[in-house]
Amino acid sequence: MDKLVVNGGSPLDGPLTVGGSKNTALPLMAAALLADGTSRITNVPDLRDVRTFSNVIRVAGPTVTFDPGAHTLSVDASTIDHPVAPYDLVKKMRASFYMLGALMGRCGEAKVSLPGGCAWGPRPVDLHIDGMKAFGADVELEEGYVVASAPGGRLEGGSFRLEPSSVGATINLLLGAVRAEGPSRIENAAMEPDVVAFGEALQDMGAQIDGLGTRTIEIQGVDQLSPTTARNTPDRIEMGTFMLMAATAGAPGDPVEVRDGAHEHLGQDFKDWLGQTGVDVEYGDDVVTVTRPDELRPVSIETAPYPGFATDLQAQWTVLLGLANGTATVTDTIYDDRFKHVPELQRLGVDISVDGNTATVHGGQPLRGAQVMSTDLRASVSLVMAGMVAEGTTHVLRVYHLDRGYEDLEEKLRAAGIDIHREEYEEFQEPEPEPEEIA
Ligand code: EPZ
Repeated sequence: MDKLVVNGGSPLDGPLTVGGSKNTALPLMAAALLADGTSRITNVPDLRDVRTFSNVIRVAGPTVTFDPGAHTLSVDASTIDHPVAPYDLVKKMRASFYMLGALMGRCGEAKVSLPGGCAWGPRPVDLHIDGMKAFGADVELEEGYVVASAPGGRLEGGSFRLEPSSVGATINLLLGAVRAEGPSRIENAAMEPDVVAFGEALQDMGAQIDGLGTRTIEIQGVDQLSPTTARNTPDRIEMGTFMLMAATAGAPGDPVEVRDGAHEHLGQDFKDWLGQTGVDVEYGDDVVTVTRPDELRPVSIETAPYPGFATDLQAQWTVLLGLANGTATVTDTIYDDRFKHVPELQRLGVDISVDGNTATVHGGQPLRGAQVMSTDLRASVSLVMAGMVAEGTTHVLRVYHLDRGYEDLEEKLRAAGIDIHREEYEEFQEPEPEPEEIA
């Protein structure tokens, strides 16, 4: 297995360049299945999740070609002859569940494994299933699979309210509705930039969609969609992560540039709260300049659907609070138990306690390097961040979680002044017990 080894204490002097968005690339890939022919997506990051989803798509019949150097991915969806997403792949990545909408939209039938739990809780898919039923699908659960079919081979369309609002369910329902027989309506739809960029790509393919970026999306189904060439958006979570790295590991008073992101996708809460910590941020078109102050002020945050503070940035904010002078809280209103990074940050010396969905951080304690364990993608990057400012060496184990969503992180950080490298290691395994003697 791989680990990242960070020798803390060297300031981040930038610049850091933001790559293509993981959470937009995946639905764009799913959208390609709706058209008979080859669609191309540019600015696709070379990530484990992109490769996993390519394999999920290949199982159904299409050909997926990825040029990681050029960050270009093609999906030839001329043939879809096996509308199935198997457990072995879906369990690796929840977003594989987008195959439900894509296959229902294209083929009117789908057999997609239920994703199961994830590191921080159950994460249900009831809204995806109930929404698909509301749009006219017959749905059965068989041996861990969702087996869906549209009577007559095509969804009718319908109306469905998402409660709570869900990124994934909005995407799945859009995938199904754009090729339905009739009109559809999604209420309390997700307004995340990932959903908007994906919906705009569908519009380019010929889909009729109104209300993207608002709480109510209306769709008029069409008979056919055409293949497209879509440019993936910059990754807003990578951008926010880099800004928080600059805010914590930058030398006080020295500006660090974060390039090629789309700061309008960060949401206003993130910008406002970061400003309140005393960090100076200048927002330019392609460059955001972040300057760490001498002293960080503690600012409490609460996650919320876009344009609120992204749950995918709360672990990184926790590290900032660990360095601030005073006490503040992180409340996650999207997930009840997304705090697997907390015990690991405690090992590095951060003073945190968790009560329900709120973490309280008493900042200002010195951080010291240690061996810590990645448990999920954003937790992993928070551990790297903490290692960058800790005294001594931090070993972040099981870095495969991080490889799901950050392309070349250690190369990017090394080029920006951080002492970090990747090493292989053996994980200690309990020895097999001696077989019992059978008389
Ligand atoms: C997306 O997950 C992102 N993943 C997540 O990013 C992100 O944390 C999340 O949105 C919230 O912003 C991708 O885009 C691939 P949801 P998704 O459905 O779509 C509840 C990362 O780190 N819910 O918007 O699965 C759910 O439990 C990842 O990159 C139901 O109750 O999230 C949660 O409380 C991790 N029933 C809330 O809705 C459902 O059927 C929002 O989840 C579906 C969701």
